[in-house]
Amino acid sequence: MIYAHDLIVLAMNGTKELDMAGTKRILTGIRPTGALHLGHYVGALETWLEYQDSYESFFLIADYQALGDNFDDIDKITDSVRQVTIDWLSVGLDPEKSNFVIQSYVPEHAELTTLLSFITPLGMLERNPTLKGELDQLAVEKRTVGFFNYPMSQVADILLPRADLVPVGEDQAPHIEMTREVARKFNRIFEPVFKEPETKIGRVPRLKGIDGSNKMSKSKGNVIELRFTEDQVSKAVMSMYTDPNRLKATDPGTVEGNPVFQYHDAFNPDKEKVNDFKHRYREGKVGDVEVKKDLVVAINQFLDPIREKRSHYENNPNEVEAALMKGISKAREIAKETMEMVRSAMKINSYTSKW
Ligand code: TRP
Repeated sequence: MIYAHDLIVLAMNGTKELDMAGTKRILTGIRPTGALHLGHYVGALETWLEYQDSYESFFLIADYQALGDNFDDIDKITDSVRQVTIDWLSVGLDPEKSNFVIQSYVPEHAELTTLLSFITPLGMLERNPTLKGELDQLAVEKRTVGFFNYPMSQVADILLPRADLVPVGEDQAPHIEMTREVARKFNRIFEPVFKEPETKIGRVPRLKGIDGSNKMSKSKGNVIELRFTEDQVSKAVMSMYTDPNRLKATDPGTVEGNPVFQYHDAFNPDKEKVNDFKHRYREGKVGDVEVKKDLVVAINQFLDPIREKRSHYENNPNEVEAALMKGISKAREIAKETMEMVRSAMKINSYTSKW
């Protein structure tokens, strides 16, 4: 299929654009509602790091989306935009290679959301399992039209830069599926403007909370943040939920579904040692404390280089701001191009010329 975009690129015949024409694009994002944690790392950031070298990447700080359940706490969003950017820089996402974008600084996100909402059946939102779960948890006064519509805005986020791939955590998969359906429908009704993006789920799709629950959230206090000090890591790990049926170190324990071992698998590079722990744990030959102490060391070693970079960026806020501004300016260029294609495909930019 020939995409309108490729034709525009060929017509412009700019060498830079031609170079980029062969490079596939990523768009992915995060809501700025708090500092990032280990779950974000193994579920998403790690894949982003791997792909930033080979894809033209757009990493979005989805502040419109954060309004969903935080419209009454803009200070939290303001602080989180900074925090998330520093988290990204600290783990090694590189603004020289990739584009960091704040959603509301590229207002075309809102325009595309509106236009796409008119071809999107309500059922797509009503059936979305992730949205359903979130709405069930949400206080009545926060069940807004905007919240209900956030997957629609996420569809627009992904389609605006005409992304090929969306690396995300497992819970986001229904939104990407919806994106494919909306893209297909738009292309069929109007003109082929959009690509149908693929989903890429991270290495550990669902890291458990330190309380053993399947949902990590800062408000539950069950996360290990990337910015935690050594002491905070130690406290969190030593209080981690393990096998509740194991009362003494000599009781045989369960490894499967045990967060201590899930974290060992995710963060301890010494696989042999982890296997030995698992073996002894099952046999009742090692105490929880020993296994946890080793996990504290592994996580702290993992976080050390991230901490070092963080302290640099904490002290150089101008670099943090510059990283955002560069990405935003690139995102605006592409957004403008896409919206011209969209308006032209829908023929909503030229009413008077046909009179
Ligand atoms: N919903 C994502 C989250 O909860 C954030 C997000 C917004 C996103 N827009 C996106 C993810 C586009 C992938 C693609 O963190």
